[in-house]
Amino acid sequence: YPSNPQMGDGSILERTNCRAKGGAAGFKVAILGAAGGIGQPLAMLMKMNPLVSVLHLYDVVNAPGVTADISHMDTGAVSHFGVKLFPTKDNSMPRISNPRTLVKNGGVLTTPTQALGFLGQSELEGALTGMDLVIIPAGIPRKPGMTRDDLFKINAGIVRTLCEGIAKCCPNAIVNLISNPVNSTVPIAAEVFKKAGTYDPKKLLGVTSLDVVRANTFVAEVLGLDPREVEVPVVGGHAGVTILPLLSQVKPPCSFTHEETEYLTKRIQDGGTEVVEAKKGAGSATLSMAYAAVKFADVCLKGLRGDAGVVACAFVASQVTELPFFASKVRLGRTGAEEVYQLGPLNEYERIGLEKAKKELAESIQKGISFIRN
Ligand code: NAD
Ligand code: LMR
Repeated sequence: YPSNPQMGDGSILERTNCRAKGGAAGFKVAILGAAGGIGQPLAMLMKMNPLVSVLHLYDVVNAPGVTADISHMDTGAVSHFGVKLFPTKDNSMPRISNPRTLVKNGGVLTTPTQALGFLGQSELEGALTGMDLVIIPAGIPRKPGMTRDDLFKINAGIVRTLCEGIAKCCPNAIVNLISNPVNSTVPIAAEVFKKAGTYDPKKLLGVTSLDVVRANTFVAEVLGLDPREVEVPVVGGHAGVTILPLLSQVKPPCSFTHEETEYLTKRIQDGGTEVVEAKKGAGSATLSMAYAAVKFADVCLKGLRGDAGVVACAFVASQVTELPFFASKVRLGRTGAEEVYQLGPLNEYERIGLEKAKKELAESIQKGISFIRN
């Protein structure tokens, strides 16, 4: 269930309470890095998600601006901390705040629900407290010629600081980690949580949904299908050869020539680089990533709500291979990734790909672990 702290006044209910009456949940979601290329469209799409009741937008720059902008959207989620709902007499649509109450904030007349945003380290705790789901797209993106691992130097420290905040302020939240290199930042996050004594492997999920989104699109192009009808499992990790599409398990069932298999595997593995090169130094995938992140956040929230049969690919703590982390299909439930599925039967091409993926993954995972331990 969504966290549901009492607001100190027995007559005041949070949106989550009121929504529960109608059978729908309202979850509290924070986006860290919300003013960035991914963060902004992600914030917009999360503001449109009916499962979200409170949206906290945190960044080290421009968070108030993005929050003010997003908060004018007339959707249900409210980008403000501690939004209070007032039940109506007939239990119809609850009011978001006590109507007709204007307050003074820094000498300026405003409504109690006016969006604020969370700017800089001193506001991280406020951004995180009480959250059910934290999505992290904070950190620098690639430029042409760089690998994701080249981002490690800067992004490792950013992820460490943000995860220390999560361990302190919302240790039970589900974490969706987008910042690259995911193959190393997820192990970093795990080590930070272990150190803090809050690690729950089910709740830490590296976001690989863009690989699945790309795979569905490219496979649909080859087959002449609607991409919404195509499901491609993508396992391993999120960088180059560690991205392993299982084309033998595509739904609807189909077969590929060797040439098609090579083309698709390479295109899916190099999808990020394709965008980095097309953007010519202006960053990496942001819009497709925001779309993929929202798709993934949505399944996490549906799992939290208790929906049955919610399955998606993610980079998680795993016993599917000998590696401590691996991306594969997981079942999402009230406590996070409650079941990690085996890979299923692989063909020869995929078995060779798996060995290559594991070799690179092992190094990236170790690099992340060592960053915190040493
Ligand atoms: P961006 O530079 O446009 O935005 C990053 C944001 O993070 C900026 O607003 C920046 O101010 C903020 N930030 C920096 N340090 C911070 C801190 N300590 N706390 C909070 N916010 C901080 O970059 P982008 O294009 O949005 O990409 C962000 C990250 O996502 C990159 O590392 C990129 O490689 C990664 N990414 C991952 C995937 C994936 O599939 N997992 C896909 C695309 C991009
Ligand atoms: C992607 O796959 O698009 C991201 O990981 C960004 C990148 O650097 O390629």
